[in-house]
Amino acid sequence: MSATIAAESASGSIFAPTALFYYLLVPAVVLWYAYFRYSRRRLYELADKLPGPEGLPLLGSAHEFMGSANDIYKRMWARSNEYSDTSAIKVWIGPRLLVFLQDPRDVELILSSNVHLDKSVEYRYFQPWFGNGLLISTGDHWRSHRKLIAPTFHLNVLKSFIDLFNHNSRGVVDKMRKEIGHEFDVHEYMSEATVEILLETAMGVNKKEQENGFEYAMAVMKMCDILHLRHTKFWLRPETIFRMTRYFSEQTRLLGIIHGLTKKVIKNKKAEFQKGVRGSLAMYPGMKNADQVAKQEGKAKETKTEEPVGHSYGQAAGLKDDLDVDDNDVGEKKRLAFLDLLIESAQNGVVLTDQDIKEEVDTIMFEGHDTTAAGSSFFLCMMGLHQDIQDKVVEELDQIFGDSDRPATFQDTLEMKYLERCLMETLRMYPPVPIIARQLREEVKLASSDNIIPAGCTVVVATVKLHRQPEIYPNPTVFNPDNFLPEKSASRHYYAYVPFSAGPRSCVGRKYAMLKLKILLSTILRNYRINATIPEKDFQLTADIILKRAEGFKISLTPRKKSGLNITSARAPTVSA
Ligand code: HEM
Repeated sequence: MSATIAAESASGSIFAPTALFYYLLVPAVVLWYAYFRYSRRRLYELADKLPGPEGLPLLGSAHEFMGSANDIYKRMWARSNEYSDTSAIKVWIGPRLLVFLQDPRDVELILSSNVHLDKSVEYRYFQPWFGNGLLISTGDHWRSHRKLIAPTFHLNVLKSFIDLFNHNSRGVVDKMRKEIGHEFDVHEYMSEATVEILLETAMGVNKKEQENGFEYAMAVMKMCDILHLRHTKFWLRPETIFRMTRYFSEQTRLLGIIHGLTKKVIKNKKAEFQKGVRGSLAMYPGMKNADQVAKQEGKAKETKTEEPVGHSYGQAAGLKDDLDVDDNDVGEKKRLAFLDLLIESAQNGVVLTDQDIKEEVDTIMFEGHDTTAAGSSFFLCMMGLHQDIQDKVVEELDQIFGDSDRPATFQDTLEMKYLERCLMETLRMYPPVPIIARQLREEVKLASSDNIIPAGCTVVVATVKLHRQPEIYPNPTVFNPDNFLPEKSASRHYYAYVPFSAGPRSCVGRKYAMLKLKILLSTILRNYRINATIPEKDFQLTADIILKRAEGFKISLTPRKKSGLNITSARAPTVSA
């Protein structure tokens, strides 16, 4: 008996401190929670007024993000249809408040602002990849880098890429020849091509001297899968837990491939820069020299670029950003391509360190390839499914090129009006960047209602939803390039169509993307009839970082009569005195 008491008292003395800890812990947690709620009382008060699911206690709607990327996409789409098409909708993910904007007037308040520029916390998972690159940086760092980088995607620079766009587009046509006669996933070809085009244009290196562009593109695709998992599976968000999973070691391996390519690109370019070489190092037989290009540019200057009506390079013509400066000032100011300028700036000791250059190269390599690869793959699927529309595009191309197999010029791209409308319609229905998210530091009174969205929440512009508002686009699920007839565009709110975002943080590659896509896609259509069998209603869309089809982008090709295009011209690099 006394032994039992002794044991109990002994065990009591062992557990007493633990018990005391728990006695204190519970009130401490309660107090902390009360303080947490109190400090966010304004956020809760304003959130209460917004429509949207309340979700489960503590979890909110986090459980809705279970399952495959396509399941999540379908669930989110169904949920969004439970609310009015124009109201801002709230969604709780645990303690985080997300507000989805659906009215273009509300979208304008955020995207046009010089205040709401900070990206949402989800972008931090890009950090090991992009560091402080343009897409995710903020404050003065972002401002100074944007000022430096935006002019490198000015039309004056882009015109000097035309030969390389043509040459690479012919290359894809050749590569795809082996797929004639059966169904295949065109996205792999588009990914590889867009990586190679970026290498030879913005980066100004020779793709042949780089590691495998295809391997890079595949590594990027797998990295995006990991980032998508971290966005949707909340238990993978904390860094310590993530590092214990196999995804972390896979991420380390993939970043090895991705950063390996960018390091090599910078090293090659720097070596040539030391020798005084500027411009793209990509050389093909029959290249024009710099004088010929300058002469051509001089002629282009004489043909004044028309003031755009309706849309200009993927956004409403009424919207201007830092890419629209001096568009008619062709050739007056010598501008450098992206990596040339970055290296030159660093050598002059201006703004950039080697690390800065690497981060910006990583950012542009990603932003510049996966987006356009998705856009072009969706475009080709649309052509395959809408044969009548494809016929009209080809008719337009026949009018421009006749029987000639000559490469496209800048002037030709201006004449591809119907193809452009098809491209815009593709980016409306399938915007490659389906979600734009900002962290709100100040309250915003909505334009669409009396509601206020609170500071501290994440504002989401789901372009994929905005672009399918029935009030804005009648029959929004029908592919109709006439949605972009000048009169139709003019009657719409500017912010009803923002595939490239808009305002101070708009896409710096907008003009590059539109020009490149016109040349790439017109070259493919001049060579092949596209066929597709999977109807749009069966597309398994996955919307996270880049909008894609889970089942791949299946098309088949039939050669057109006028095949066998053969382009060899490209611009020679220049050696500075
Ligand atoms: C169809 C092709 C493209 C689409 C639809 C697209 C779309 C977008 C969108 C929506 C954003 C804003 C993202 C956000 O705020 O979260 C963005 C930003 C950006 N894009 Fe693109 N993009 C495309 C092609 C390109 C290309 C070709 C490049 C470069 C060569 C590029 C470089 C960038 C960069 C650097 C940013 C960050 C800009 C900043 O924050 O200041 N993009 N893009």
